[in-house]
Amino acid sequence: MEEQQKSSHVVLVMVTFQGHINPALQLATILHSKGFSITIVHLELNSPNPSNHPEFTFVSIPDKLTKSQLSDKDIPGLVRSVNKNCAAPLQQCLEKILHSHHHIAAVIYDSFMFCAQPIINDLGLPGVTLFTHSALGLLFYHVFPQLNEKDYISELESPELQALQLQGFHALSSQNPTEAGMEVGAAFANALKSSSAIVVNSMEFLELEVLSKIKQYLPTPIFIVGPLHKLAPTMCNSLCTEDNKCISWLNKQAPKSVIYVSFGSIVNIDKQELIETVWGLSNSKQPFLWVVRPSMDRGSEWTESLLNGLEESVGERGFIVKWAPQKEVLAHAAVGGFWSHCGWNSTIESICEGVPMICRPFFGDQLLNASYICNVWKIGLELQNLERGNIVRTIKRLMVDMEGNYIRKRAMDLKEKAAFYLMEDGSTSCSFNGLPKHISSV
Ligand code: UDX
Repeated sequence: MEEQQKSSHVVLVMVTFQGHINPALQLATILHSKGFSITIVHLELNSPNPSNHPEFTFVSIPDKLTKSQLSDKDIPGLVRSVNKNCAAPLQQCLEKILHSHHHIAAVIYDSFMFCAQPIINDLGLPGVTLFTHSALGLLFYHVFPQLNEKDYISELESPELQALQLQGFHALSSQNPTEAGMEVGAAFANALKSSSAIVVNSMEFLELEVLSKIKQYLPTPIFIVGPLHKLAPTMCNSLCTEDNKCISWLNKQAPKSVIYVSFGSIVNIDKQELIETVWGLSNSKQPFLWVVRPSMDRGSEWTESLLNGLEESVGERGFIVKWAPQKEVLAHAAVGGFWSHCGWNSTIESICEGVPMICRPFFGDQLLNASYICNVWKIGLELQNLERGNIVRTIKRLMVDMEGNYIRKRAMDLKEKAAFYLMEDGSTSCSFNGLPKHISSV
């Protein structure tokens, strides 16, 4: 434990999404190991289980949100509601914490909870933004939209950035027109201006060019602290119960034969997409493990019978769960591919295990991550059309064809790089040590 930080207290304000809760609690665990005491401020909806983390103090604030809002595709609208509903309770909560602690070293808040920054400013505390998506997401959603279009197009001279450009612009233009998207983007950019640092759950070698581009435009210090799930590996922060039976099933499968299919914690798929996926997996002849969250189809009754039909037709070749121990699954020797929605956590978890991917992004940063995976790192294939024949062909290309060998090799190379990066002398530890120092000094 580092002496200088023993008496320092950090407040971490997190949001309600699984993909944000995981990195927030992982970051808190690491800071705690470096000597900080921690209070976690969280919303009532999707509260984490405090008994999993007896080392932290948990405080919940009212959010006026409903479960059904979480399965809504309008993420910017939801983020806007979170900030509107939570600003006043958060202020009261932070004032109370400030009263009971002599010294708060910093308030770290999830970037989706940008209403925290003006409150923190008023209380005279340092604020640190936790950005749980890639640095590329920071560039496209929060740095470039503040610039004149000509400025940033002329900035994309390198082949890597050009490869990312198309998807990035597509993602921006598909998001920006909504009023909520504009409002949320502007509020976040404003918060960044007075934030004392930005913490990103990434690895420097993955995003070198993007990071150097961000640094040209943002004076705020950036700490690249990932991959957090490897640095705080023992915790389970799942909001759903993990079905461990799938591990026994995986134990019976041949090495690298299984395609793992999961679309994260908030994506919904419609009836036709579900039918095509069922037929695609059935016709592929490849063993598969598929996560179908109960909320994924918006509560439709026919899903159950469709899945029962699939299980009957594929027998032992397929396994369906409501929620999987994903990190364990990806590390399993039987898993040879990951068909993913390309959420950022899933992406870095897959990279760290050397699992090549099939990318079916749905919205937001998932489009950018898919572009990284397919065009820059070249460790995956994009599934452009969710149609059964196309699903079969794409699974075969990745899992069976020669083309898959090249992609697998690149995925393994990236895994090795990540392992090297994680070694004690790698840049992660330097960056991570910089963060506690920064927090203690601001
Ligand atoms: C959301 C957004 O959708 C995503 O675009 C953004 O990058 C992060 O926030 P989510 O959709 O939940 O995240 O996806 P992802 O970032 O991949 O996070 C999902 C997490 O849940 C991962 O840590 C994964 O390991 C875990 N998970 C998922 C399980 O533990 N079990 C499962 O069955 C599925």
